[in-house]
Amino acid sequence: MQIDPRLHAKADNYKLLTNLVIPRPIAWITSLSDAGIVNLAPFSFFNAVGADPIYIVVSIGINEQGKLKDTAKNILSSGEFVVNLVTEELFDAMNLSAADFPPEESELEAARLDSAPSVIVKPPRVAAAQASLECTLHASQKLGDNTLIIGEVVMFHVADHLIGPKMHVEHFAPIGRLGSPSAYCRTQDRFNVPRISYAQVNNR
Ligand SMILES: Cc1cc2nc3c(=O)[nH]c(=O)nc-3n(C[C@H](O)[C@H](O)[C@H](O)COP(=O)(O)O)c2cc1C
Repeated sequence: MQIDPRLHAKADNYKLLTNLVIPRPIAWITSLSDAGIVNLAPFSFFNAVGADPIYIVVSIGINEQGKLKDTAKNILSSGEFVVNLVTEELFDAMNLSAADFPPEESELEAARLDSAPSVIVKPPRVAAAQASLECTLHASQKLGDNTLIIGEVVMFHVADHLIGPKMHVEHFAPIGRLGSPSAYCRTQDRFNVPRISYAQVNNR
């Protein structure tokens, strides 16, 4: 079946896209408002897009009032944020933090989470997160209703127990987001397959 997005409602196209491009990692973003309130919210239009320098992207939509979400407002104003990665024990707190809190109320407090100071940027990280990426805003780009944020990762925080020899990350299993609005997956079911060189392809 072919589906031409021009012939369908925005909501249907969103549902289609977010049920096909799966699983998506979740950036659980801490940012600081101009008034100094720590904001926390999850975003699954998220990925890593560069390693030297290290870049990530997050795409943030508008809220029900058609305005920028607090996270986008804070990042554009302060130029800084932290991406915390969501492992299963943090799921309920992550889900709670997605509710439409007013900007003067911190989702971190509502979710009874402690913050831990960042090293380079002002927004703190989620203390219980097994991994957090301190980011500075590299660039932003309006994409229709969304604001694409390109962040440069300036500091990694990784729980000691996850780091093996030669910075090899072991046993890290963040959850993934599947179809919107509320399907998720675990990432423990893995398999490894060595890469094949061009020479090996020709010698088969
Ligand atoms: C798992 C998950 C992923 C989400 N991904 C996105 C996303 O990629 N972009 C977006 O605009 N909203 C996304 N949302 C909705 C925001 O988290 C929600 O609108 C939140 O209230 C925004 O908070 P803020 O206004 O404090 O920034 C997601 C929600 C959940 C639960």
